[in-house]
Amino acid sequence: MYTLESILRQLGTFHSTMCQHGTDPELIKQVVKQQFYIVGAITLNNLLLRKDMCSWSKGMQIRYNVSQLEEWLRDKNLMVCGAKETLEPLIQAAQLLQVKKKTDEDAEAICSMCHALTTAQVTRSALTAAQIVKVLNRYTPVNEFEERVSVAFIRTIQTRLRDRSDTHQLLMDTKMIYPVTFPFSPSSLALETIQIPGSLNLGFLMRV
Ligand SMILES: *[C@@H]1O[C@H](CO)[C@@H](O)[C@H](O)[C@H]1NC(C)=O
Repeated sequence: MYTLESILRQLGTFHSTMCQHGTDPELIKQVVKQQFYIVGAITLNNLLLRKDMCSWSKGMQIRYNVSQLEEWLRDKNLMVCGAKETLEPLIQAAQLLQVKKKTDEDAEAICSMCHALTTAQVTRSALTAAQIVKVLNRYTPVNEFEERVSVAFIRTIQTRLRDRSDTHQLLMDTKMIYPVTFPFSPSSLALETIQIPGSLNLGFLMRV
C-alpha cells in the first residue's frame, strides 16, 4: 500500500543515495524524471480503472498531492528536469474532474486545457481523447444537486477531439523508459599525473 508520504520518503532515499555516491547531476535529473513518470502513469491508470476515483473531491486530493510532489522537486532544485511535466496528464485529469461540464464553452475550455505540452524535455504530455472521454463517463456527481455529464456533452467533446492523433490510447504505458544520455563532464584532475597505488592491483592498466 503506497501513500503520498511513503512515495516522498522513497524518492528522498533514492535521491540522497545518488548524491552521496557523487552521481552526475544530469543523471540524477533523468532518474527523477523517470520516477515521476512512473508515479504519474500508475496514478492516472488507477484513476481511469477504479470506480471511486472520478469525483470532484478526488480531483481536489490529486491536485493537493501533486503539489506536494512539486514541492519536493522545488526543494531538491529539480524544477527544470522534465519531471514536473510528466505529471501533466494527471494534472489535467484532476482539473477535468473539477471544471464545469455542461455548455459548449465548457467543452471548448476542456479541449484547450488538455492540450499537449511541448518543452525541451517532454515531447507529448496531455490526456488523450480516450482518457478525457473515460473520465467524463466515469464522473460521479458529488451530491444530488449536481448532474451526471450528459451524453450530448461527451459527443461534443468527441467531435472536437476527433482529429487528434492520440485518440485511442487509454492507459499510460507504465513500462515506458526514457532514453538515458550520459553527459561528458571532464574531470578537473590532470589524470596523466595520477599515481595508481600498487595495492589496488591494477597493473594491467596502460597509459594511452
Ligand atoms: C492523496 O494523499 C493522501 C495522503 O497519502 C491519501 O490519503 C489520498 O488517498 C491521496 N489521494 C489520491 C486521490 O490519491
